[in-house]
Amino acid sequence: MILVTGGCGFIGSAFILDWLDQVREPVLNLDLLTYAGHLGNLRDLDGNPAYRFVRGDIADIDLVSRLLREHRPRAIVHLAAESHLDRSIAAPEPFIQANVVGTCRLLQAAHDHWRTLPPTEAAAFRFLNVSTDEVFGSLEPGEAAFDEAHPHRPNSPYAASKAAADHFARAWHRTFGLPVITTNCSNNYGPRQFPEKLIPLMVHNALAGQPLPVYGDGRQVRDWLHVVDHCSALRAVLDRGRVGETYNIGGRSERTNLEVVHAICKVLDEARPGAHHADLVRHVEDRPGHDRRYAIDDTRIATELGWRPAIAFEQGIRDTVHWYLTHADWVACVTSGAYRHWVEQQYPSIHAAA
Ligand code: NAD
Ligand code: DAU
Repeated sequence: MILVTGGCGFIGSAFILDWLDQVREPVLNLDLLTYAGHLGNLRDLDGNPAYRFVRGDIADIDLVSRLLREHRPRAIVHLAAESHLDRSIAAPEPFIQANVVGTCRLLQAAHDHWRTLPPTEAAAFRFLNVSTDEVFGSLEPGEAAFDEAHPHRPNSPYAASKAAADHFARAWHRTFGLPVITTNCSNNYGPRQFPEKLIPLMVHNALAGQPLPVYGDGRQVRDWLHVVDHCSALRAVLDRGRVGETYNIGGRSERTNLEVVHAICKVLDEARPGAHHADLVRHVEDRPGHDRRYAIDDTRIATELGWRPAIAFEQGIRDTVHWYLTHADWVACVTSGAYRHWVEQQYPSIHAAA
């Protein structure tokens, strides 16, 4: 069996559903259920004997050690994190606690467990540290895409906390021999993404007739990766990736934020004829330290592991928007309570104008 951390979040829930469908190996999910984690994301697994959930903190070393002793997973897929950059600007401290301290404690518990394993089990064990392209900083237009040798130049508290976690994961491999692999991927999109992130936020606001807040000029570029493609990449890395290496994962879909917002509006216009959702676009104050462009050179994962993304952005965004259109109950559930408070704090200009 494998241990997944953060399995109630956006990527974690997609990964567990994909894993049980494709690999059919039991999963233990350790998740703290912060504002971003929802048990409902895995409701389809209710009663599935191959799935178990434990609510807890990755920084709780006693709990993690006990789970490792009792369940003896052959791998840890580490996805638990504070993941939203804007929140790290509003309050950096939780990012240091979850992403840096939490990852270090998880590495410590994994190492304490790994060194007790018999040699064949120890050799097969993997710690997969799921990270982000944001650790590499920002590219100018035309500059070569990030490859694995690109220096870490994080620009936000979120990116710095993930870069720190990557450095510690590397250190636990180099110093203590723990079989770590790190992946650095680009912006994911797809079902069950918390509507603080660009794509679900835009769909949510457009459907409510609310302004679509584009930071600055909206010409920042991201490389969009469908979450299902990300899951297949993680499976490939876990299966065939080289211990001690890092692998960059991208969607081969660089788009400006304005292009993304207009693509969403086009799908919504077709689904709700009569409305012209792009009229709701408002340019608002830019994000401080806003990275201009991310781009991924995926040569290593393509050549070594034979992985490449399968979902074209145009199809992926269409399917994603339709998922949110047909899952109003999920959106209503996750946008109740604390969500309203965050949105009012984050977009004061929009609320003042309304
Ligand atoms: P998310 O915010 O949707 O989910 C994070 C999950 O982690 C939640 O279920 C939350 O309850 C859980 N969690 C947080 N702190 C915890 C703790 N201390 N102990 C246990 N559980 C905890 O995040 P996501 O978008 O699914 O991202 C998953 C991982 O992938 C993160 O490490 C993130 O940095 C990385 N990543 C995300 C993207 C993206 O586009 N979403 C891109 C690159 C990398
Ligand atoms: O690149 C990988 C990263 O992608 C992950 O590590 C992060 O966990 C994930 O949150 C994401 O970070 P971004 O900051 O790129 O994603 P976000 O959806 O917040 O923003 C995408 C772009 O859209 C970014 O340039 C900022 C812009 N944006 C975002 C929001 C929420 C807006 O213009 N308006 C908005 O309201």
